[in-house]
Amino acid sequence: AACGKKEEAPAAAPAPAAAPAADKLKIGFMYVSPIGDGGWTYQHELGRKAIQEKFGDRIETSFVESVPESADAERVMRDMAGQGNKLIFATSFGYQEFVQKVAADLKDVKFEHATGYKQADNVATYDTKTFEGAYLAGIVAGGMSKTKTVGVVASVPIPEVVRNINSFVLGAQSVDPSIKAKVVWVNEWFSPPKEAEAAASLLNGGVDVMYQNTNSPAVLKAAEERGARAFGKDGDMSAYAPKAHLGSAVIDWTPYYTKVVEDTLAGKWQGGAHWWGVKEGAIDLLKIADDVPQEIKDRVAKAKAGMQDGSFAVWTGPIKDNAGKEVLAAGTVGDLKFLSGINFYVAGVEGKVPG
Ligand code: GUN
Repeated sequence: AACGKKEEAPAAAPAPAAAPAADKLKIGFMYVSPIGDGGWTYQHELGRKAIQEKFGDRIETSFVESVPESADAERVMRDMAGQGNKLIFATSFGYQEFVQKVAADLKDVKFEHATGYKQADNVATYDTKTFEGAYLAGIVAGGMSKTKTVGVVASVPIPEVVRNINSFVLGAQSVDPSIKAKVVWVNEWFSPPKEAEAAASLLNGGVDVMYQNTNSPAVLKAAEERGARAFGKDGDMSAYAPKAHLGSAVIDWTPYYTKVVEDTLAGKWQGGAHWWGVKEGAIDLLKIADDVPQEIKDRVAKAKAGMQDGSFAVWTGPIKDNAGKEVLAAGTVGDLKFLSGINFYVAGVEGKVPG
């Protein structure tokens, strides 16, 4: 108000919106792809809906989809905070620097960053052991490939994705050590046309079973068209390609989201780093195809049981990279530091990790 005059309310001022109950926790979700992607983001969205349902009017959730891993992410998070959100889930790796920046400014907001590795007083990181799902899918691929060449459509070259490619191949080679693998990178999380193109080039190169680390069912659909086989990832993608579908490595974010909301409502938000896998019920290979031999299904069940009781770890030596160097000695289990820094392909994978 200028000139020391008191501001007058305009005559036709709209009635103020009902203020939210003071104890209502507002929670924002930031997604990198559309909620209809059928995979990564769809699955986060199922988690959001599940907590909204569970906690009812104690919380109010919202989301913004298709947010690029750029300064757009910073703008969206600041906007969410401005709208009163006190808990923000940022659900893709490339948001990391933006989460750090915004969180440093907004100390009264808690941030949960999926797949990142940088924590702060008000930033927790969380992830699912997607490599365990990749390994289980790999077992099925190893049992089903006739060309003995499997393929992966890869997204963004970060350790998580390289670890998933390798874990898929290790699973396949656990059935047949002679299995070879090809990888095509699309350098995006979600680009159905590029994902389909990458799948076509794998199939043209002799691959007959594919996995992917991208967000859409495009790879699976490409397999369906060409009479090849592939997997769903992150979400249950069986409906997109009933003939090609060999199984879906499905993430369930709901248990983690439920815990974070419970903690936050109780004033006990924890922070830290959280990595849940098969053991915690956060990932599973679902809907294995009927034509997969029972012997292969038994191998999947055995590996899964080992993951559940801790007697089996995917990254157990001896493991060699594709230049012949031993990366894990016999009997050694890769620790968190090892798993976080995987920047090589295992033996049998063609080519070199980009970068
Ligand atoms: N899709 C979009 N972002 C991510 C990510 O950070 N990790 C994985 N696995 N998939 C994604």
